[in-house]
Amino acid sequence: MSLLLLHLLLLLLLLLSTTTTTTSPSPPIGVVYNPLHHPPKTHIVSSLRASTFTRVRLLDPSPSDIRAFSYSNLRLLLSLPNSYIPSFSASPSSSLRWASSHLLPFHPRSSISAVSLGHHSSSPSLLPALTNLRSSLLRLGLLHISVTTVVSFDSISPLFPPSAARFNSSVAPELIEFLSKTNSSFLIDIQPFQLYRTQTSTPIGFAVFADHPFGFRTDPFTGLRYRNLYDVMVDAAVSAVEAKMKKGGRLPVVVSATGWPSGGGEEEPAEVGEVYAEMYLKGLVRHLESGVGTPMRREGAEEVYVFELFDNWARRGPESGRHWGVWFENLTGKYEGVDFSGAGRGGGCGWPGGAGVWVVVLVFLV
Ligand SMILES: *[C@@H]1O[C@H](CO)[C@@H](O)[C@H](O)[C@H]1NC(C)=O
Ligand SMILES: *[C@@H]1O[C@H](CO)[C@@H](O)[C@H](O)[C@H]1NC(C)=O
Ligand SMILES: *[C@@H]1O[C@H](CO)[C@@H](O)[C@H](O)[C@H]1NC(C)=O
Repeated sequence: MSLLLLHLLLLLLLLLSTTTTTTSPSPPIGVVYNPLHHPPKTHIVSSLRASTFTRVRLLDPSPSDIRAFSYSNLRLLLSLPNSYIPSFSASPSSSLRWASSHLLPFHPRSSISAVSLGHHSSSPSLLPALTNLRSSLLRLGLLHISVTTVVSFDSISPLFPPSAARFNSSVAPELIEFLSKTNSSFLIDIQPFQLYRTQTSTPIGFAVFADHPFGFRTDPFTGLRYRNLYDVMVDAAVSAVEAKMKKGGRLPVVVSATGWPSGGGEEEPAEVGEVYAEMYLKGLVRHLESGVGTPMRREGAEEVYVFELFDNWARRGPESGRHWGVWFENLTGKYEGVDFSGAGRGGGCGWPGGAGVWVVVLVFLV
C-alpha cells in the first residue's frame, strides 16, 4: 500500500516538474499605435493604462506624443520610418539631434525600451544609420534604450519546415551581429493573414488558432509539431536568425505587429471580417498566456505587439488595410471576446496556478 503511495508520489513529482519546466512566463502584449491620425490625448493614454496592454509601439512619434506617456508605466517602442535612414547614416549629428529632442527630455518619465529604425529596409545605409543612432544614445547617456529595425518576413524562405528557413541576401549577417552585440532584439511582423491570402492551400483553422487537435504539421527535420501558422512563422524567423549567429549566440525575437482585419473589399478573401479577426486575436492571446512559447523556443517571442489600436482610414492599398483596429475611436473594444480594455479581464483561458494544484494534491496524499 505504502509502495503504491510512493509510486503515486513519484508520478506526481514527475508531472509537477514537467508542468513547471515546459511553460515560461507569457510575453508582454503591446499594441501598435499611429499617433498621426489619433494623437495620444490624456483619455487615450489612461484607457491604455487601464487596458491589458503593457507596451505601446508608437509609429514616427513627435516629442509631444512621447511626452503624453509620462508616468504611464507603459513601455514604449518607438518606430521610425525608412525616410530617416539617409540622414542618420550621413551624419551622427542628425541622429544626435533627433535623440536630443525626442528622447532626452522625456527619459525616464516616459519609459522607452527601444528605437526601431526602418521598416523592411534593405538599404546599404541601414547599418551605418543604426550605428550612428546607437552612438548618439550612448553619448546622451541613454544606455538602456536599444536600437533595432523591423525586418521583412518576405526575406525568409522556405517557410516550411521552419527549421530550414533562411534569410535571403537582403538581410546582412552584419545586421544580426550588430543586434546581438548590442543586446538588442530582432523585430519582425508576423502576419498569418498575409500568408493566408497568398497561399490558398493554408487551412483557415491553422491560420486563426482554430484547428482541430489533430490538425498539426510536423517539421520532418526536428520532429516538432505545429498547430498554428503563427508558431510556424515565429520559428521560421528563429531559425533564420540562428543560422546567421555565431555558435551559442541567442537573439530575442519580438513580434512587432500581428493581427487580422475586420473588413475588406469584395475581391478579398472571405475570411476578412470580425468573426475571423476575433478568432485570431482570441487564439493569439490564449496561446501567449499559456506560456508554452513556440515548438522551437520555450520562451517564444520576447514581446508581441497587436496590430493596431485604431482603424487607419488613410492607409492606401487594399480595403482590408484600413480595418485592423482593435478599438473603436470611442475607446471601446471592437471584439467582445477580446477587447483588451481590462474591463472583462479573466476570460479564464489559462490554467490558474498549474503547479499549485499539484502541490495541493501532493500534500493531500501525504
Ligand atoms: C528578399 O527579401 C526582400 C525583403 O527584405 C524581398 O522584398 C525580396 O523579394 C526577397 N528576394 C527574393 C529573391 O526572394
Ligand atoms: C549586454 O548585456 C550583458 C549582460 O547583461 C552586459 O554584460 C553587457 O555589457 C551588455 N552589452 C552591451 C553592449 O550593452
Ligand atoms: C463605440 O463606437 C462603436 C462604433 O462606432 C459603436 O458600435 C459602439 O456602440 C460605441 N460604444 C459606445 C459605448 O458608445
